[in-house]
Amino acid sequence: MILAHISDSHIEAPGVLTYGTFDAAASLRRVVAALNACDPQPDAVLHTGDIVHHGEAAQYPPAREILAGLKAPLYAIPGNHDSREGFAEAFADQPWLPKDGPFLHYTVEDFPVRLVCLDTVVPGQPWGTLCAERLAWLESQLAAQPMRPTIVACHHPPFATGLTGSTKVGLDQGGAEFAAILGRHAQVQRVLCGHSHRPMLGVFGGRPVWVAPATCYQFEAGFSAENTLALTQEPPGYGLHLWLEDPVAGPGLVSHYVPVGDFGERRVLLRDGKRV
Ligand SMILES: [Fe+2]
Ligand SMILES: [Fe+2]
Repeated sequence: MILAHISDSHIEAPGVLTYGTFDAAASLRRVVAALNACDPQPDAVLHTGDIVHHGEAAQYPPAREILAGLKAPLYAIPGNHDSREGFAEAFADQPWLPKDGPFLHYTVEDFPVRLVCLDTVVPGQPWGTLCAERLAWLESQLAAQPMRPTIVACHHPPFATGLTGSTKVGLDQGGAEFAAILGRHAQVQRVLCGHSHRPMLGVFGGRPVWVAPATCYQFEAGFSAENTLALTQEPPGYGLHLWLEDPVAGPGLVSHYVPVGDFGERRVLLRDGKRV
């Protein structure tokens, strides 16, 4: 199984540049083209939120139109820049979208690795939260299939990132309980997040957490106490999470970071005329 992981597309209304600078739609199109060129194709693509920049109704149709170009099936969760209403309307035709309840969380059972997709959104706030209801839902989903390898997805990284501003701390409450739940469920192979607009790796509740780069602008890797969050022209990218059977280690998940751009000539490595 190959799961592609994209995040933070921050699509604006047609003709509007994100922060007046970034053509988020063109950037997402490049990422979609790169994913469609993958051989083999990913079994699924997961978008960990901030589909659009301001949660406005006019921003979702262009986002859906670009994402509809993916060959692989798409799963998505909302981020702090989304509105639950706009997100739910945009993805109303998708079988995974919850039909009722206050939160846009769901579990995908179609693949060798389960996807438990969380909704950490606090409307109108940049940070995320996991309230008692959402924590109880997560616990019940993980308890239902303790022997199946599982990925938990949420928009906000649950730990401090070292960055400043809105990306400094992901969750304002529920973090300790989230860590305890992950600690009780060894089948969780990864927690996959977005929001920080940089590829990052951490450990939380004893489980590896992988944060995807944005498909639009990246945040600068600045960690001084005086640092102000800055947007950079670093390339967009995505993650590829491969569920592999290692002859020694057994089955496991390996996570790759792939930048998207023109990086020059591709050269095949040969030794004595044969592939290495
Ligand atoms: Fe974002
Ligand atoms: Fe975000």
